[in-house]
Amino acid sequence: MLVFLFLVLLTAPGREVVAQEQPTKAYLENYNQVMERTQWWREARFGMFIHFGAYAVPARGEWVKSNERITTEAYQKYIDAFHPGQFDAREWARLAKAAGMKYAVLTAKHHDGYCLFDSKLTDYKLTPRFGGRDLVREFLDAFRAEGLKVGLYYSIIDWHHPDYPNVGNHPQRDDKEYAKQNFNWDNYLKYMHGQVEELVTQYGKLDIMWFDYSFDDYSGEKWKARELVEMVRRHQPGIILDNRLETHEGLTAGKRKVSLLGDFETPEQGIPDAPILDQYGNPIPWETCLTLNNYWGYHELDKNWKPAELVIQSLVNCVSKDGNLLLNVGPDARGLIPDESVAILEEVGKWMVRNSESIYGAGSCQLSKPDWGRYTRKGNSLFAHWMHPNIGQLNARGVPTDKVKNIFMLHSGAELSWVKNWWGNMEEGNLFINTGNSPEKPYRHDTVIHIELNE
Ligand code: GLC
Repeated sequence: MLVFLFLVLLTAPGREVVAQEQPTKAYLENYNQVMERTQWWREARFGMFIHFGAYAVPARGEWVKSNERITTEAYQKYIDAFHPGQFDAREWARLAKAAGMKYAVLTAKHHDGYCLFDSKLTDYKLTPRFGGRDLVREFLDAFRAEGLKVGLYYSIIDWHHPDYPNVGNHPQRDDKEYAKQNFNWDNYLKYMHGQVEELVTQYGKLDIMWFDYSFDDYSGEKWKARELVEMVRRHQPGIILDNRLETHEGLTAGKRKVSLLGDFETPEQGIPDAPILDQYGNPIPWETCLTLNNYWGYHELDKNWKPAELVIQSLVNCVSKDGNLLLNVGPDARGLIPDESVAILEEVGKWMVRNSESIYGAGSCQLSKPDWGRYTRKGNSLFAHWMHPNIGQLNARGVPTDKVKNIFMLHSGAELSWVKNWWGNMEEGNLFINTGNSPEKPYRHDTVIHIELNE
């Protein structure tokens, strides 16, 4: 009978039956683990990315070796000159905390291969040139002491290791002589896996590991990613991993899945239009990583700073779609975070002091995006983020008025009155909040209105 019905459906004229693939048990099991592991992180919403390395000396961004096709010999002058004497991890940690950030991720090794941690597997590291100090350890200690969760970025690409071929954007990609060398890929993998093992065994509990990045064939099993992830999880069962051990192929809408090799997706320098869903309609954890100017690593001439307002509104944008924001700073060769970055983060922090309730633990809501801003939601609290100039009363259309318990300004706790109808707007479904007569929002950058709903 069932078979018969199915055939009828398939053959019924003008009717298209789309076979709905169901998630396998194994998929759901992995999905649930991902959601469990990432719970604290999804609530945290806001983190600091730190790109720090010898590239702060040329001060033309962390890709300088590749962009200018610099050889390892020529790059050495930057390694020699890199003495970040004013580096103080506690200062960085205090700033992150004051900005309202809940976690931080530091580049333990970037593509140039120079290690900020005291790896036993190479001499290409800062420690012996830094009075024996292990910069990564100091970072971890200081941020943990401020109560922040900690993560390390590790570049699986390595433009220094002699067994790493001149593929992708390697500085010597066009150097025919260099290409003649014998690159022993297994040797490189051993080194790379070994370094990751050092990081996950020698530095206490790590909350996040941020691998970067796969391209072309250099993806997944080329890196022996399964083995790598298994090893990492063996030592650090609760650790959260980004998704860059694989390429972004396969992440097209409608086909997305949560990976076995990574917990969260990593849109870069952009914010998705909507929450990211897997092909079955379940939310996938994601984090936009964003620079404060145009470069990740310190760039002396890049003054394209994003104003605090844009940063705050971008954070809200992410949260309104169930995502996180990992905001970057690129300390200079002295080890200081640029003054401009400090000023922006302090301003963001000022806003967070009064408004972070609309960020931490908050996420998307079903209402469509209003002209004047965005919504975030946490349980029975709906947060209307008033960002853009507005005429008349603020209409939170779609909020069921019979469920409204209270409405007040989040920054001050002041009560706001509201009505269902407003001058010629008599249709059902409106909720006009009395926000005064000014078209400009009364609290800088983003005025948050807390709409408290009954059960
Ligand atoms: C990129 C870049 C890199 C940066 C990273 C941050 O993949 O190669 O320089 O560290 O994105 O997301």
